[in-house]
Amino acid sequence: MKHTVAIYPGSFDPLTNGHLDLIDRGSKIFDELVVAILRNPEKAALFSLEERVTMLEQQTGRWKNVRVDSFEGLLVDYALRQKAQAVLRGIRAISDYEYELQMALMNRKLRPELETVFIMPAEKYSYLSSRLVREVARLGGDISKLVPEIVEQRLREKLDPAFKLQSRKVKAGRT
Ligand code: PNS
Repeated sequence: MKHTVAIYPGSFDPLTNGHLDLIDRGSKIFDELVVAILRNPEKAALFSLEERVTMLEQQTGRWKNVRVDSFEGLLVDYALRQKAQAVLRGIRAISDYEYELQMALMNRKLRPELETVFIMPAEKYSYLSSRLVREVARLGGDISKLVPEIVEQRLREKLDPAFKLQSRKVKAGRT
């Protein structure tokens, strides 16, 4: 029987509930789903690669056919090394379509047998992006419904070092 492997690539800076929704949907379609974080030395990320791997591993442990990895270089080469037949990407709105179409067609040009499969996340996540989460968190807005609790906490710690100190004191019962 055919064993289907798909790569779900992205920056995941940070992981959002929209990503988890897509992982859930993808895990039901493919036998194996590899969530692959791009190691991109040219793009400064808020979270280090190690932090992103840790958060993703924590949050995807519930799916037995999902694993987390990172890659650099061409996605099509990485997919070949992973023996994947498909790339999974989410399309939230028409605005995503042009960029996603361009990438899918370029990947097809580079490796015709690798299919890109698009999935729509739940409507409630259709406006959600890592970029907006970072911005709202930076400006002090409520992101509790948009990201897992651990991501919210790490974001707060990163953007406000005083928050880390405060939560350590609370844990130690010193407030
Ligand atoms: O979450 P993102 O930033 O939209 O993900 C973009 C990603 C990682 C899927 C894309 O940048 C990528 O595949 N990069 C790897 C380099 C590559 O293969 N480039 C050519 C693809 S058109």
